[in-house]
Amino acid sequence: MRLGVLTGGGDCPGLNPVIRSVVKRGVLELGYEFVGIENGYMGLVEPDLAYPLTRDAVRGILPKGGTILGTSNRANPFQYAVREGGRWVERDLSDRALARARELGLDGLIAIGGDGTLSIAHRLLEKGLKVVGCPKTIDNDLSGTDQTFGFDTARATVTEAIDRLHSTAESHDRVMVVEIMGRNAGFLTLDSGIAGGADVILIPEIPYRLESILEKIRKRQQHRKRFSIVAVAEGACPVGGHLAVLEAADAVPGRGVVRLGGAGKVLADALADRIDMEIRVTVLGHLQRGGSPTAADRLLATRYGCKVLDLVRDGLWGHMTALRGCDIVAVPLAESRKERRVDPRGELVRFAKGMGISFGD
Ligand code: F6P
Repeated sequence: MRLGVLTGGGDCPGLNPVIRSVVKRGVLELGYEFVGIENGYMGLVEPDLAYPLTRDAVRGILPKGGTILGTSNRANPFQYAVREGGRWVERDLSDRALARARELGLDGLIAIGGDGTLSIAHRLLEKGLKVVGCPKTIDNDLSGTDQTFGFDTARATVTEAIDRLHSTAESHDRVMVVEIMGRNAGFLTLDSGIAGGADVILIPEIPYRLESILEKIRKRQQHRKRFSIVAVAEGACPVGGHLAVLEAADAVPGRGVVRLGGAGKVLADALADRIDMEIRVTVLGHLQRGGSPTAADRLLATRYGCKVLDLVRDGLWGHMTALRGCDIVAVPLAESRKERRVDPRGELVRFAKGMGISFGD
């Protein structure tokens, strides 16, 4: 069995532990061979982006963030950006990807990625490529699994950042707005907001009203708490408002997704007109995707990497690994295409509200 391995989409801590466990178990226990495909699906479209992924190639990578294979969140073989006549156009190069897989002698492909990567995997499967997947993302927004790896590390990073903002907020009597990634899902902001003790948590699933946030900040002032921490998800919007966007979906060919950013500034500007307090905005940005994976992420990633080989061995092409309760199971790749969002009436939101945290609603 000769398998290609690629990591696609935004990187996150845990990708290297998956690659390592795939190769170690695959070589030692099952006698498989692996080919590393570089820069996500780009490595299946372009020449010279593949190399033998041996045990030596994966030595020492367990604690490292990022991915030794490189990644791309622009390289979609079905909408591939190519230069024609001096301008960028999108072309369907999926046949070329399939041909490249044949050329590399692959019996199958292990795609490690988020919703974009896994939905491309699903489309390639429909065209005849044997594919299995492992779900990753700091956003934790993939359905079909209770948790993606990368999320736990990002949550710890954001929690620590909020802790650090607390002391300076308190010293200066400031409102600290901290903008957190997660795209259209509020899991990262909700969990780290609660873990970091934020006073206000704004998530995409609960549109906010300015007046409600101001009421919370004023109430704290009345109780001689002259600072406040507001955790705002990059996808959070005011009631009837718009997403804060850095870059439109069609800004760069081949991207196909909107880049979010600026929700913290939008909120701070709106608050500044209505409250006599200093406001500062911290955008955590890509710091949230870096660093060494936590023990929990290393374990989850390692379990996914070992389990995905069971899927290959058992011929479960078109499936991905998933965490269900305490077990790692196989679920159809199509499951990952459904959206997963925070339940605004769920337990965690209810308990947080019960503790006095404002969601701006
Ligand atoms: O999906 C992971 C993620 O980090 C999102 O939280 C964020 O919106 C996006 O990727 C940022 O993408 P890029 O690295 O392309 O700026």
